[in-house]
Amino acid sequence: MRRLLLLGVTALCLCVFVAADTQHDRQGDKSLPEKDGVLQLKKGNFNRALRKHKQLLVHFYTPLSGDGHRVSAAFEGAAAELQESEVKLAVVDVAKEKDLAKDLNATGPPTIRLYLAGDKHNPVPCPVPQSSASILTWLKRRAGSAADLITELSQIEASEELTVVGFFKEQDHEYVQVFYSAAIELPDVHFALTQNSEVISKYGLTHDVVLLLKKSKLIQAYKMMPQTSKEELIVFITVYQMDPVTEYTGKVEY
Ligand SMILES: *[C@@H]1O[C@H](CO)[C@@H](O)[C@H](O)[C@H]1NC(C)=O
Repeated sequence: MRRLLLLGVTALCLCVFVAADTQHDRQGDKSLPEKDGVLQLKKGNFNRALRKHKQLLVHFYTPLSGDGHRVSAAFEGAAAELQESEVKLAVVDVAKEKDLAKDLNATGPPTIRLYLAGDKHNPVPCPVPQSSASILTWLKRRAGSAADLITELSQIEASEELTVVGFFKEQDHEYVQVFYSAAIELPDVHFALTQNSEVISKYGLTHDVVLLLKKSKLIQAYKMMPQTSKEELIVFITVYQMDPVTEYTGKVEY
């Protein structure tokens, strides 16, 4: 009997210990609930998450919205890849968290925003991703530099994909910055920088030109000018990206 009682008391103690432990865990969870490594944010914990994570990538989603489904899938895929990264991922259900979405001016697109250094007011909008790779490439390009794009010409020419290739006289020129900022905005497009002048001389071009190449075929060329903006370059690229059958006619868009 006594032994049974002792056993009972021990079991009770154990239970209390376990309960205390889960209680502790639950409190930790309660401050910032997570699912598969993704923070589930709402009005009550958004600011805390912002303070805690220097880079917070937030997907403002509406369940059951048509286009949103692909973006959600892309975000989930990226979240799986970014488990060990410095970027913390989070979601906000906009249908439930109407007040929060309104406070953050997150009622419309873009639905994915990167909050940096706890700044609630100036998130960096992530371009609408086609896939999880878009998000990963965007983060990588955003955090990197133009030098990351330097590639061998032979590699570019072997690629099946349409590649935007920049040839610049000076690698630290403003043109390179414009080129790189376009690359950040178009994470689904291959970008490369090369200093190999073969193509340039082959087509009788001069430097500071952006070429669209596909399987070593020149699709179009765009001459960079001092006034060329990132936006203009993006328009040039996206027009030809949508119409990939167009081939180079020998005319350079000066
Ligand atoms: C949302 O927009 C309003 C008006 O433009 C602005 O006052 C407010 O600071 C914005 N909120 C955030 C979080 O940026």
